[in-house]
Amino acid sequence: MTRLVAPWSDDQARNFRKSPITFRHNLAESGLFDDDALAQLLDAYPAELYDINLFDFDAEGQATMRTGARGRLPGREVLEGVKEGRIWVQLRRAEAWYPALTPLMKQAFGEIAGEARGFSPVQLNGQLIMSAPGAKVPFHADAPGVILFHLRGRKRIWIYPVDEAHMPQQGMENIMLKQQTEDLPYRRDMDAAAAVFDLEPGMAASWPLHAPHRIENLGTFNVSLSVDYQTWGSRLTNGAHFANGVLRRWGLPVAAMDKTSMAARAGLWAASLGLKRLRLVEDRIKGFERSFEIGDTQKAA
Ligand SMILES: [Fe+2]
Repeated sequence: MTRLVAPWSDDQARNFRKSPITFRHNLAESGLFDDDALAQLLDAYPAELYDINLFDFDAEGQATMRTGARGRLPGREVLEGVKEGRIWVQLRRAEAWYPALTPLMKQAFGEIAGEARGFSPVQLNGQLIMSAPGAKVPFHADAPGVILFHLRGRKRIWIYPVDEAHMPQQGMENIMLKQQTEDLPYRRDMDAAAAVFDLEPGMAASWPLHAPHRIENLGTFNVSLSVDYQTWGSRLTNGAHFANGVLRRWGLPVAAMDKTSMAARAGLWAASLGLKRLRLVEDRIKGFERSFEIGDTQKAA
């Protein structure tokens, strides 16, 4: 079987999940991300797993997001809309709902696990993202681990340190409690601390759990596959953030996560399972309304 992920150097293997890294892959050679294949996929994709977003940026780079519905446009026209506008389309759960992709993702992660000693993801979730030449993804952090497989076009990614200055612990608790979207406060001067990569087709990027990042497309239509993964370590850490967020709301002391042992995180994670069942915190994210349809966006852009 032809490899999908090029063998890693010692540095790549050592730094994976500790520092931002890039590596080579050849997923796009499958043809699954060519225009015809994408148009067919867009036509067939379940509406509830299909997101269309439009970002407006102010002078400081702060973003507001509008979320839209596909409307009644055929896939080929959606694709044209993406190529022309500031919008991006995200197909969630692509690992399951793009059946031709499923075996390739399994193979790629099998090869990554072979390169990165001790890496055993327990859950994978793929988002296939199509974005416009001028699209930007604002500064944010993701709850799960992420590997971004870049497929078409060029984009620049800034990856920031996971420290209080860039990723406040309370911000991550709020993300876990779904009290805020994954967008975080951003200032331009933070860029000095970022690792910056220009991603070409066939490159993949990965970074430490919860490292904030932002992305700008470099004038070309982009296609990427962003794969979220959970390991037992990330699951315990995220559960601990959830429990800490509730404790903080109760006025109880919360320890710094980087000083919390895996055993203590496991205890907090176990507590989080009960707290989640109590539904103590209202889910504020669900209320986001879809505010435009893609036909409107094209006119507005
Ligand atoms: Fe992200």
